[in-house]
Amino acid sequence: MKKIRIGIIGFGRMGEKYLNALMANGKWDVAYICDVSPGAREYAHGICPEAIVTDDSDQVMNDPSVDVVGLFTLADSRYHLIRKAFEKGKHIMAEKPIADTPEHEEELVSLSESGSLITTVNLYLRNSWYHNRIRDFIRSGEIGDLAIIRICHMTPGLAPGEGHEYEGPAFHDCGMHYVDIARWYAGCDYRTWHAQGIRMWSYKDPWWLQCHGTFENGVVFDITQGFVYGQLAKDQIHNSYVDIIGTKGVARMTHDFVTAVVDLHGVNVTERIEKPFGGKNLDRLCDIFADSVNSGRRSDSLPTFREATTASEYAWKFLDDARSHDLPAIGTEAELEAIRERRSRMTDGYGLLHKR
Ligand SMILES: NC(=O)c1ccc[n+]([C@@H]2O[C@H](COP(=O)([O-])OP(=O)(O)OC[C@H]3O[C@@H](n4cnc5c(N)ncnc54)[C@H](O)[C@@H]3O)[C@@H](O)[C@H]2O)c1
Repeated sequence: MKKIRIGIIGFGRMGEKYLNALMANGKWDVAYICDVSPGAREYAHGICPEAIVTDDSDQVMNDPSVDVVGLFTLADSRYHLIRKAFEKGKHIMAEKPIADTPEHEEELVSLSESGSLITTVNLYLRNSWYHNRIRDFIRSGEIGDLAIIRICHMTPGLAPGEGHEYEGPAFHDCGMHYVDIARWYAGCDYRTWHAQGIRMWSYKDPWWLQCHGTFENGVVFDITQGFVYGQLAKDQIHNSYVDIIGTKGVARMTHDFVTAVVDLHGVNVTERIEKPFGGKNLDRLCDIFADSVNSGRRSDSLPTFREATTASEYAWKFLDDARSHDLPAIGTEAELEAIRERRSRMTDGYGLLHKR
């Protein structure tokens, strides 16, 4: 089978993860790596000498032998790059959010739904073994009727002002994954919500947010997300779980980024599963995408631009809701400065961006 030629645009933290997944999968040929940063290009040359390394995304887009573009820059340039890719007839793997404003996102959804090009976006939780196992368990009837979805993800991750500024505050940048997966579990749209945030270290935006409410089908939810978890602790730790409660049983998951543990407590089945966490599941995304391109049939398991845009839209709504209530500020700019300074020296830490 002919290898699929891909041009990677944006070779930072995520771009390198994609490169590793693509190189480990025999269906791909990495034709280009494009980045505006000289340091990123030099690094790309070193680890993938067979790819053409460039700072010019048009060179990638204009090459008719390129089948797919991987758009892993920050959100500010994604809208223009996706539009260009459609214009040039390229299939698209994009990072989330697919654009920098809801209007741009909607426009790209229309383009993706009106043509035959294959598109996807990295809503990685949808490809995780643990969420799929829990959803199968719910569908088997073991927990009775699904009633309550509780999700929490708090880490000492990306600090305000450290990067990803076009992606919005933590609850949009990272939280949109949890907004998406809660909706995936519920199987319908959000109906009501109330969000509480806090402006940690007196930063202008909330960096921790909790939202609760209902779905159209009456299922209730609470989502807690924040990159505010012990940033200056000597030994760092995180707290990440889902807790799915039915009328008869429960299913839950937690992880340490290495191993994920699923506990299923149904009316007939009690099971504990411990398996590798799986990171961003890019091996799976790249493999399914390759099969879709080769067969000309888009797999239903590829996350869509519409799903990403809906998650992004609700994450913004929940942030807006938090801003409409009491939004206290706690902590000082000096603490935030100390956090940024510490992270700039760290070589191993939560969500560190590459320093190239
Ligand atoms: N799906 C996920 O779980 C997940 C996780 C982390 C990040 N992301 C998303 O991935 C994207 C990239 O994040 P990252 O952490 O890799 O950031 P990063 O800052 O490490 O990398 C971005 C790279 O893009 C390059 N770049 C910027 N504009 C460019 C342009 N116009 N042309 C070419 N290169 C350009 C930068 O030089 C940088 O090397 C973000 O939008 C982020 O939201 C998604």
